[in-house]
Amino acid sequence: MSPEEVLSFLGPGEWVSGEEIASKLGISRAAVWKRIEGLRNKGYEIDACTRRGYRLSKKLDLLDAGLIRSGLATCWLGKDLRCYGEVDSTNESALSIAPEAQNGTVILAETQTRGRGRISRSWASPPGGVWMTLILKPEIPMAEAHRINMAVSVALAKAIRKLYGLEASIKWPNDLLIGDRKICGILMEVNAEVDRLNYALVGIGINANADVSSFPEEWRATSISKEIGRRVSRPELIQRILQEIEETCDRMKCREVYDEWRSLSSTLGRRVRVVTAKGSAVGEAVDLAEDGALLLRTEKGIKRVLAGDCVHLRACAEGG
Ligand code: BTN
Repeated sequence: MSPEEVLSFLGPGEWVSGEEIASKLGISRAAVWKRIEGLRNKGYEIDACTRRGYRLSKKLDLLDAGLIRSGLATCWLGKDLRCYGEVDSTNESALSIAPEAQNGTVILAETQTRGRGRISRSWASPPGGVWMTLILKPEIPMAEAHRINMAVSVALAKAIRKLYGLEASIKWPNDLLIGDRKICGILMEVNAEVDRLNYALVGIGINANADVSSFPEEWRATSISKEIGRRVSRPELIQRILQEIEETCDRMKCREVYDEWRSLSSTLGRRVRVVTAKGSAVGEAVDLAEDGALLLRTEKGIKRVLAGDCVHLRACAEGG
């Protein structure tokens, strides 16, 4: 039995006795206490009071599918929206239902035990973040799949700008930065036939209220709460993001989305190092092509890079 099973009994602000939880789960009160400690170790804030029992700290806004859907002004995105406590990865959960899922299905989780990042990296997913995967089934050929990435990153940057007044920018290909710190990552996995996209799983990780203080400094991570100095309402953030993504995806075939993606870029004009499967290159990011490629001016001429990991260089960091 995992600590998360105890979580489902705890509402924000409402006390529930250890005895009640114990009898409903068929475990001892000591076992309840052990699970509460397990949840606290994972970062959940839980109040305990001798005569009253336990409650979630009021500061914590647990994800509730009904609540998110009730204020969601979308036509197709998030009509099927599912919230889980702990999963291995929301992309993995989405994969298991993708073939039969309706376009726009959204999977959310409080925490992930095996969150995945780009290029086989792991993704830390403590409580307080927005860890979600969208199942999208747009009618576009595989060769146009980059349009989804562009639309989603543009929508995320715009939603964060509008909601919190933060200068969110897009680091090529689709990381969201505030200044030079990463606030959000996107991992898109596609299933396609020769010329037909069956579905795209768009995994989005936003360090909303997540505590990033224990993340290694080299990740250069930040969170929305750290940037604005207060916790944010995750339901409101999720609603705004989904609305913005739907609006941008509806016009993803228009050149306008590429123009917005280009204008929100913090990579353009920078000196960068790009690591690809074939090696690495250093140069100036002179342009971003409509198919999502980065054009690098290197010592050997212009190099076109379609996919890779990009590091914004400061003059002194080039050799390292
Ligand atoms: C990156 O920048 O490397 C991409 C990170 C993507 C993380 C999100 S969190 C929700 C979804 N589930 C995962 O396992 N990964 C993505």
